[in-house]
Amino acid sequence: MPKVLINGVEREVPTGTLVLDACHQAGIDIPRYCYHPALTPVATCRMCMVEIKGMPKLATSCTTTVGPPPKDNPEGIAMEIITNSKAVADARAGVMEFLLLNHPLDCPICDQAGECKLQDYSYDYGSGDSRMGEVKRRYRYEDLGGKIVIDKNRCIHCTRCIRFTQEISGTHELTVAQRGANLEVTTYSGKSMDANPWAGNVVDLCPVGALTSRDFRFNRRVWYLKNIPTISRHSALANPVWADVDQNQVWRFRPRPTEGKVATYFISDQERAAYADYNLGSGARLLKPQLKGQEASVEAIREALAAVGSVAVIGQGVFGCDAAQRLGDLASRPEWRFGAGDKGYAIQLPKLQTHTDGVYNRRGFSERGFRFSKLDELEQLVKEGTVQALVVLYDAPFSGAKETERLKALVASAPFSLVLESVPSELGNSATARLPITTYLEESDFVTNHSGELRRYQKALEPPKGVRTVPAWVKDLALQPAVPAAV
Ligand code: SF4
Ligand code: FES
Repeated sequence: MPKVLINGVEREVPTGTLVLDACHQAGIDIPRYCYHPALTPVATCRMCMVEIKGMPKLATSCTTTVGPPPKDNPEGIAMEIITNSKAVADARAGVMEFLLLNHPLDCPICDQAGECKLQDYSYDYGSGDSRMGEVKRRYRYEDLGGKIVIDKNRCIHCTRCIRFTQEISGTHELTVAQRGANLEVTTYSGKSMDANPWAGNVVDLCPVGALTSRDFRFNRRVWYLKNIPTISRHSALANPVWADVDQNQVWRFRPRPTEGKVATYFISDQERAAYADYNLGSGARLLKPQLKGQEASVEAIREALAAVGSVAVIGQGVFGCDAAQRLGDLASRPEWRFGAGDKGYAIQLPKLQTHTDGVYNRRGFSERGFRFSKLDELEQLVKEGTVQALVVLYDAPFSGAKETERLKALVASAPFSLVLESVPSELGNSATARLPITTYLEESDFVTNHSGELRRYQKALEPPKGVRTVPAWVKDLALQPAVPAAV
């Protein structure tokens, strides 16, 4: 591998590595606005400039790559990069002054304050002074449909948002109009972004507060938010997302990129909006164990379950692997673990969505002995009386009407049935007993998605009093261990 000198320290990086990445690997952060790892580099902001020995001028590190070592000395230094010289500092300060020429001083009311790259870099690299004597350019904010608001006063023309609509969503709503000091980002003939099901990503991409989300705008100052690593349940691949939480409420979901995986840089608007499903007040939740429609203790449910005999379990593949393992322990025979769930997602962007199956932990459940598409077998076992009790792990939105009817018929025909759920459902209403479980944001667990990637999620919210995780309830139900399968 070629050797490079970065600020006098020798490192080895593969030929073709971006100078910006080589610096990042050396622990040196290079400021950047227009560069984004999932978009074509355009080198327009000039914020990432570094000195490269032998080059007459500073170079943009987002478009310059490390070359091979000298031909006559394969062990020699391929490139010498300097990021801490006066020339680099002057260039950064100059770029900051230029970008701030027309920028309003509205940080106290700007949604981006606290996560704004203009604020951060201004503090780290700016000159602290402006020579701008003219009146600043002014625009009124505009709605780009119902989801996105643009404030052109704040825009620094990095074109990330435009490149997203050209290269990722392919919807081409955004463009630049006018020239010079009047340059502005706008939509073609006032076109709205509402028809773009991935539009929310332009808000994440905007390094300043020019593009904001109608949904999140003015809701919460970002410094109050705790960023909890979790996953999206509303994608076929359980995309990694941040749950931004304050006062035991989740305020937004944002993508949580995994380096090198372009698909993880973006989430659909449906996934983004799903956070609201987990801010249910306790009035909408199942809060107490119930037996035959009455509040009951878990001991009473355990005794009722133990009294009926042989137990089969059904788990929708949209819960964590730990929950699957514990639920599986309740089955009287290992082969009496049945999988359910039939939610699907239409492919809108093939380059980001590789699966339509919304039962994102089907693989994790299968690895723990759950058999999907075998409800016929279970129906037969219940009908002939071999299985007398059913325990179902259930979340209504992940089973369609047909599957729900089948599950309801199964639950109704078994002598005893127990449904574990967070929100009361028709299925739970028709069961003999039910237990209130945490939502996935109220617990820590992991899933294995369709691509075999293990995705962990951490507890983001405190559950209501009395609501517990599946492993905690199963421990209390404490039935006999499963008997080995008949040979
Ligand atoms: S709106 Fe934001 S993302 Fe788009 S060009 Fe302006 S600063 Fe960049
Ligand atoms: S990040 Fe390199 S020029 Fe903008």
